[in-house]
Amino acid sequence: MTLPQIITIDGPAASGKSTLGKNLADWLGYLYFDTGVMYRAVTWAALRAGIPLEFETEVTKLAETIDIDVCPPSQNDGRAYDVLADGEDITWDIRRPEVDGGVSQVSAYPGVRQALTAQQRRIGLRGKVVMVGRDIGTVVLPEADLKIYLNASVDERARRRYKELCDRGVQVSLAAIRENLMARDRIDSTRQVAPLRPAPDATILDSDHLDASQTLEAAKNLVKRFQ
Ligand code: CDP
Repeated sequence: MTLPQIITIDGPAASGKSTLGKNLADWLGYLYFDTGVMYRAVTWAALRAGIPLEFETEVTKLAETIDIDVCPPSQNDGRAYDVLADGEDITWDIRRPEVDGGVSQVSAYPGVRQALTAQQRRIGLRGKVVMVGRDIGTVVLPEADLKIYLNASVDERARRRYKELCDRGVQVSLAAIRENLMARDRIDSTRQVAPLRPAPDATILDSDHLDASQTLEAAKNLVKRFQ
């Protein structure tokens, strides 16, 4: 079977990209790479250093110098991987509401995108990869063999993210999550550089009425078309 060597999954916040990306990569024996963790790591590092997120030059400098690493999970606490920033384990910290609140502002800075996109492209071009984000099929790896754009309604996405955070014991309201998702989608899809939108050659999957295994089946069918 000829398999697509580079697979991209883009889509709005909490549409199920990470779950699908991980499941599809496991099925294929490929590397799963979630580019969102890089933007989250830069945002977390700026907040921690006390750099106001509107200080574009300082935040960009941070993106150019921070050492972000994604490694196999060191703990059995539900994580799919460890995220390290300059050696520090920030796997769960980057999922906190403060990071959710600032990450789209940070990821709209052209210099931040330039620094992180270069690293993502290097990793992606090695092949046997499922790379997940907002601009992977359009900007980071436009030559990808298979491009999926995963969509779902804002209500469904808010319900999913709410459950995820409640399961981890994070106190937050459904209304606040819905607001944050809508705000992030707005910033992500209207920014000047690499806005969120489906690549012209992407297959759009609507996951509103699909659970994780049905979404995986739909993606597997797209992969099997390469036979
Ligand atoms: O998991 P969720 O869909 O909530 O978000 P994420 O994939 O972790 O991405 C967090 C934020 O990073 C997004 O809202 C975007 O602002 C930014 N991002 C981006 O601009 N480009 C990417 N390739 C990935 C994420």
